Amino acid sequence: MAFCEYQPGLEGVPVAQSSISFVDGKNGILEYRGINIEELAQKSTFIETAYLLIWGKLPTKEELLIFQEEINNHRRIKYHIRDMMKCFPESGHPMDALQTSAAALGLFYSRRALAKDEYIRDAVVRLLAKIPTMVAAFAQMRNGNDPVKPNDNLNYSANFLYMLTEKEPEPLEARIFDVCLMLHAEHTMNASTFSAMVTASTLTDPYAVVASAVGTLAGPLHGGANEEVLSMLEEIGTIENVRPYIEKCIENKQKIMGFGHRVYKVKDPRAKILQQLAERLFELTGHDDYYDIALEVEKVVAEKLGTKGIYANVDFYSGLVYRKLGIKTDLFTPMFAISRVAGWLAHWKEQLAVNRIFRPTQVYIGEHNQPYIPMEERF
Ligand code: ACO
Repeated sequence: MAFCEYQPGLEGVPVAQSSISFVDGKNGILEYRGINIEELAQKSTFIETAYLLIWGKLPTKEELLIFQEEINNHRRIKYHIRDMMKCFPESGHPMDALQTSAAALGLFYSRRALAKDEYIRDAVVRLLAKIPTMVAAFAQMRNGNDPVKPNDNLNYSANFLYMLTEKEPEPLEARIFDVCLMLHAEHTMNASTFSAMVTASTLTDPYAVVASAVGTLAGPLHGGANEEVLSMLEEIGTIENVRPYIEKCIENKQKIMGFGHRVYKVKDPRAKILQQLAERLFELTGHDDYYDIALEVEKVVAEKLGTKGIYANVDFYSGLVYRKLGIKTDLFTPMFAISRVAGWLAHWKEQLAVNRIFRPTQVYIGEHNQPYIPMEERF
């Protein structure tokens, strides 16, 4: 076995072979199963894209109808889960609520049938169907409301926005949200996907796999960045403040949220699509002054940090879109989870087919042969 040097953050170290997605960071290209994300964003839907990611091919008309119907039939959550969620503190972060609820699903469904195809299918359907319901239920219950029941007449994205806001969204709003879900559904070997795969490699149940991925996604360097982008835009407040704010961040070696990416060294293709969606949404719902501030931030960051390959990432415009759709800031990362569950499940399924438990190594830098010092001699 060839030993390689320690790489902080495992940068550049392959941890799997995968045919799910592909990123060309130099040219700003993202493909799901070989299909360009821009084409999917124009022509597909989130549920069709989830099918593509998980089963490796676009579904036929009939396969898609069956998959959609199965998901519609599993949108409701058991009253046990609702009752458990009612006990969560209303001040708790929705990602913590989601992680706990996703793990709790595993209490209801046996893990023994893991290798069977129908068990994999059931888990995929349940997780895709129930995660949005759990996110919306917590959002309602923390305000003292009962959860809104899924509406069988609405498609996946429209139903989620309905459960969250208690009003049926405009078709364009639902479509824009659906495209957001497609854009966030998968992104090669990122931190939450790796976390999912490490958990999957122990052959635990898929609910534990998703719960561990949700916990990883919650951090501000990964899924939490779009929350921080909005706080930053609010703190900047006016277009005139943009330049001094960014200059101060750079001087203090402070990261500018929504910029930079381990892989992309040009503008993230998802940020480009999200920016277009934001503009379409503002045409429908009215102008957003923070968008003007965002444009100026992007211009100044490109000027100051573009030579280092630091450009807007997927999180830079998603917060502005979500806010216009009536989604509260602390629900932005759960939106990411609703979508990324498709990618996590695709990697879970791929991992099961060739599984070997993850057991990397470390470089020990501690002491050896140390004496045990009696308590009275320690200081
Ligand atoms: N603002 C200012 N400088 C930055 C930024 C940024 N957002 N991102 C990277 N840099 C600089 C670093 O200071 C460093 O400079 P140096 O070489 O002079 O020390 C250089 O670029 C390399 O940065 P690293 O942190 O080593 O890059 P890494 O690949 O480890 O980090 C990350 C990538 C975590 C995304 C980083 O760019 C970051 O923290 N960005 C802000 C948070 C964010 O937007 N996260 C969302 C990412 S997308 C996603 O997870 C869905």
